[in-house]
Amino acid sequence: MKKHIPDMGDETSRVFAGQGVIETNKLHYGESAEFFAREIKKRLPPSSEPYVLADIGAFKGELLGEILHLLPEYTFNTIGVDINTDALDQNTVASSKVVCDATNLSLKNKSVDVVIMRYVLQWNNPADQVKILKEVARVIRKFAIIECTGPDDLHAELWRKNIDNLLNGEKVSKMKRNNYYFASESEIQDWLSKLDITHEKLRSRVIPDLSGVYIERYSLDNQEAEMAKELLRGTDYSNQSDWILIAST
Ligand SMILES: C[S@@+](CC[C@H](N)C(=O)[O-])C[C@H]1O[C@@H](n2cnc3c(N)ncnc32)[C@H](O)[C@@H]1O
Repeated sequence: MKKHIPDMGDETSRVFAGQGVIETNKLHYGESAEFFAREIKKRLPPSSEPYVLADIGAFKGELLGEILHLLPEYTFNTIGVDINTDALDQNTVASSKVVCDATNLSLKNKSVDVVIMRYVLQWNNPADQVKILKEVARVIRKFAIIECTGPDDLHAELWRKNIDNLLNGEKVSKMKRNNYYFASESEIQDWLSKLDITHEKLRSRVIPDLSGVYIERYSLDNQEAEMAKELLRGTDYSNQSDWILIAST
């Protein structure tokens, strides 16, 4: 079945590129490129041969562009993968582009040195998230770095109930999303372990003001912004986690 492509918010591209002006967006998006670049440098020796780097859920290339900028000593053949054809059409960063569902990547086994994937899992149901993790592990020759956002383990149920009330679009229509599931860290950990994927959690932190992410991305007016805050009251934060998946030998 073809997946619905949602409205992502009129300021989304700027925010994804790390140019969000409010603190929560600096933390959610503005620090990822440096974090990813640091991990890549740590784990990948510079080489005269280009590495293959795939960005899964690449959107318009905002994150990939930032990362490449921070790694001038490397040469990469880059692949942007997304299910959103329009976004990929506007992606001028990736040297090649693949429109496909990450649950079934049209990339060969071990054909990619490094995968990067930020904030993709949550826009899929849990069964599909497991498939995506399996696919990422299948295509990597070296490692994947994955950044996720979701609830903390302690308040996961309430957190998800509140975000459902925001994303069902009843109170803030432009926010309507479906087919999402925000997994907690322990769920992700559990999936990776069950899939027998060698992995490590690189970072975990709570970022306050989740409503702020949407207020800036969707240019919510005052009334909508107040509603978003009200709906997320008590769980207006997110738990950001970064993972490394190591290729099987
Ligand atoms: C929140 S955006 C993040 C974009 C980019 N990774 C970043 O962090 O700047 C999620 C992206 O993942 C894509 N996506 C979500 N689920 C996907 C799937 N199953 N297959 C391919 N792309 C997917 C969406 O179309 C969207 O472009």
